[in-house]
Amino acid sequence: MSHASRGARRTLPFANAGARALALAGASLLAMPALAQDANLARNLAATCANCHGTNGNARGDMKPLAGMPADKMLAMLADFRSGNQPATIMHQISKGYTEEQVKLVAAYFAAQKPAAK
Ligand code: HEC
Repeated sequence: MSHASRGARRTLPFANAGARALALAGASLLAMPALAQDANLARNLAATCANCHGTNGNARGDMKPLAGMPADKMLAMLADFRSGNQPATIMHQISKGYTEEQVKLVAAYFAAQKPAAK
């Protein structure tokens, strides 16, 4: 009995130290998106659109392709989704999930993609 409780007391500070180390690692990961210079950031953000709009914006089937869309046009469309001027099934929600800076990165990324031949 005393054995077990001593053991438990001894592992607790150790577990706390581990949690603190994890929290620190998590904090530095969270700080990473602030590095707009990161060349991968735009691609990573654009990847969140890929499930629906296809890899690099080359959509299949009926889905609207984003590849090669001028950045201005995309920014205007996303703004219309956000404001509700353009009724949507899902994009009105998705367009609210990104900061202005992120949306600009994504728009520039897709504008630079080559539309695939259909
Ligand atoms: C869950 C699926 C889904 C995801 C994820 C998604 N979209 Fe869409 N997107 C749609 C659908 C569906 C439409 C058609 C409008 C509607 O009904 O919402 C659309 C339409 C659009 C349009 C208008 C295209 C046109 O020519 O009319 C743009 C621009 C767009 N999406 C950009 C994006 C961007 C940028 C992302 C990632 C940040 C993204 N979408 C992520 C489903 C998605």
